[in-house]
Amino acid sequence: MNRRQKIAHPMDRGRFPADPWRLVETTHRYEDLGTTETLFAVGNGYLGMRGNPEEGRDAVAHGTFVNGFHETWPIRHAEAAFGFARTGQTIVNVPDSKLMKLYVDDEPLILGTADLEHYERSLDFRDGILRRSLVWRTPSGKRVLVESTRMVSMTQRHLAVMTLEVTMLTGDAPIVISSQLLNRQDGQDEYHTPYEAMGEGTDPRKAAAFDQRVLLPRMHYATEDRMMLGYQCARSQMTIAVAADHRLETENEHEVLVRGSEDLGKTVFRVEAREGRSIRLEKVVSYHTSRGVPVRELSDRCDRTLDRALRHSVTHYEEEQRGWYDRFWATSDVELDGDAELQQGVRFNLFTLAQASARADRQGVPAKGVTGSGYEGHYFWDTEIYVVPFLSFTQPHVARNLLHFRNRMLPAARQRAREMAQSGALFPWRTINGEEASAYYAAGSAQMHIDADIAYALMQYVGATNDVGFLVRDGVDLLVETARMWSELGFWRTNGKPSFHIHGVTGPDEYTTVVNNNLFTNVMARYNLEKAALVVERIREHYPVDHQKLVHRLGLGADEVETWKRCAEGMAIPFDEGLGIHPQDDFFLDREVWDLSRTPMENRPLMLHYHPLVIYRFQVLKQADVVLAMFLHGDRFTDEQKRANFEYYDPITTGDSTLSAVVQSIMAAEVGYHEVAMDYFRQAVYVDLGDLHENTVDGIHVASAGGVWSAIVFGFAGMGDREGRLSFDPRLPAGWDALRFPLAWRGSQLRVEITQDSLAVTCLSMGEEKVHVRVGGQLHKVCVEEPLVVALADQGPRIDGLLGDKPQVGGTRADGTKITAGVPEPMMFVEDVAPEMDAPLEMVVGEGDNAFGRG
Ligand code: BGC
Repeated sequence: MNRRQKIAHPMDRGRFPADPWRLVETTHRYEDLGTTETLFAVGNGYLGMRGNPEEGRDAVAHGTFVNGFHETWPIRHAEAAFGFARTGQTIVNVPDSKLMKLYVDDEPLILGTADLEHYERSLDFRDGILRRSLVWRTPSGKRVLVESTRMVSMTQRHLAVMTLEVTMLTGDAPIVISSQLLNRQDGQDEYHTPYEAMGEGTDPRKAAAFDQRVLLPRMHYATEDRMMLGYQCARSQMTIAVAADHRLETENEHEVLVRGSEDLGKTVFRVEAREGRSIRLEKVVSYHTSRGVPVRELSDRCDRTLDRALRHSVTHYEEEQRGWYDRFWATSDVELDGDAELQQGVRFNLFTLAQASARADRQGVPAKGVTGSGYEGHYFWDTEIYVVPFLSFTQPHVARNLLHFRNRMLPAARQRAREMAQSGALFPWRTINGEEASAYYAAGSAQMHIDADIAYALMQYVGATNDVGFLVRDGVDLLVETARMWSELGFWRTNGKPSFHIHGVTGPDEYTTVVNNNLFTNVMARYNLEKAALVVERIREHYPVDHQKLVHRLGLGADEVETWKRCAEGMAIPFDEGLGIHPQDDFFLDREVWDLSRTPMENRPLMLHYHPLVIYRFQVLKQADVVLAMFLHGDRFTDEQKRANFEYYDPITTGDSTLSAVVQSIMAAEVGYHEVAMDYFRQAVYVDLGDLHENTVDGIHVASAGGVWSAIVFGFAGMGDREGRLSFDPRLPAGWDALRFPLAWRGSQLRVEITQDSLAVTCLSMGEEKVHVRVGGQLHKVCVEEPLVVALADQGPRIDGLLGDKPQVGGTRADGTKITAGVPEPMMFVEDVAPEMDAPLEMVVGEGDNAFGRG
């Protein structure tokens, strides 16, 4: 099935029935094991565990990840140049504590070969608990009920709780449960399971594999009460301790054996099980990590977490978790009436966001959350443009943590700016520790728009929360330092009216790189400069003491604000009068158009089938660029421009990045292409549930999940939040009877309900400010006592049909030539020409990016 066919039937509903609150699997399958490992992962934003079975087998990629816990390695460029990223950073697969192997009559339970009378696995979005229940008929004909649960606590970020319950339904049998802590990072497990999801071939989605030991043993012990492993990373020097305790409940006779070594801790329970008498094993695990605190200290922290955990029952933690999720859903749920399957998909995406961000606390949000090693656990602009919007309107404290995290990266970003001959701060395109880790600068470091993306997210957060305190104390530094970067990076051209130009950058679309005046970058930089000027002026006016501190702290010059204003006003915004569209950059339209309608599906995604230079020759997009600028800055484009731009760019946008579909959905909805909007929306909702990009094995697509929320709220509900003013212009899909979602707005808690003929806003609790809402241009006041209900005449403009991938050609360039389309002749199979990737890691050129990434 190609991607288009998959969108129509993204999930096998016989196997994964539609359930509004759970992801349920009724049959175990080997073929898509890697995908389901990702889908059934549990995590809290700090700690994540893939959905590997308790038994350890079978697995495509075993994985346990701690956000930010990484190893470094030297990047050796075959042709190095000044300022190239020098140090790679890769998230580490930390010791596996999920293992609880089961033997009945000395026969191991292995799902792939076991005779299962019943099997069900579910991940419940209401409490974040993974549950599995199965009835196994052993080779000797005995029936065994095996039930297990796994959760990573949202309230205790260092804690995971697991249970395994085994009951002999027919017959007695000796049962062995071997509960383990196993270091999988440094070698294969006892079954030599290959890491299929790591470091193979040229696929940029995978993380790098290490050829040397990463986790150096520093401490370990195993007693009948507790087992522990502690390590330090060979190069990054980060430290980790993981410890586990058990509680066994059974009336059967039993004994406990303990074994510990550097890479394996084992507690083995041997039980003489009698028919009907169950064995319940509870396992509590704690992970503590640090940039360099001695392992002994981390081991003490694990002890404290576990001692506390043992004072409570598992039920206590399950209830606490349920309470946490109740609060999460109260402020984040989106209800769709009229499509039960889509409802489940939407909730899965929101649940994914909780699991990726809730307890990231002092870290960023990796592109794959804590579900896989894809993109090496790096933080990108994905956080600011795709995840922070959701958080600012639902969990503002988490949004603030993420912005604060960027603030703490400022010293490294200042240093990077100096290295790049800039003033101010230049944030890394991809990183864990604050240093640039992008080895392929054209599609990586050149994406300087990340500076403005951070400024945008900050202002959106402040607009939604009115958290002026954070802005004045912390946020303003981000604005000033990024504005400085832009004012220095650009330059003035005085051919007629002076204009401010930004050259040699790459926009979000990675299929066109290192260009002059990328429209997205310039529009975002203009906003960044404007807001920096405005905020500094406001602080000067209203908070003079803070202004003094700011001047002192950042050495703010008397004329800097004026400079930023001038740069913003003079910003070059490319526009082609002939075609009536905004070119993606100064030379974009000079290229021939890539005719995607004549490109076979086998050659998609383009980045895995064509050399970058082939792609760069054409007008073809990996992901939305101008269209994204129109979404984020809707007030800077006319309705005509929006429609013309959308119609021009949509057919030449491949969507090879999952960050694209959600943006295209939002703009399609606004322009009126309602079927197109729904089509893209479905692509986003099912990107992982249907494995539409065939790389869910590497981890969940967090940015797309955030985009699903944006597509609903900004797209279908048509919400606007410009300058701290709330507005709605709904475009509810025809098949939906109603759409409901909560909204945190400047201290008030609102609830929005849109039906085919009305919009209602209820104020559940009122903050300090009065709430005003603009609906279809009319201003309304929202009171606590009674909901605001506004009748809707329609759901916005309606243009039927899909746009397809036939490009618009025939337009005339300024020099009188016509826009034409073509397709490059496919070359040899990529496998024939791909470089050998089994060379030692340091020898691999540009290992960090492999030219393009696929998010
Ligand atoms: C996209 C980037 C994104 C990255 C990580 C890439 O494929 O092109 O925009 O930041 O994936 O998700």
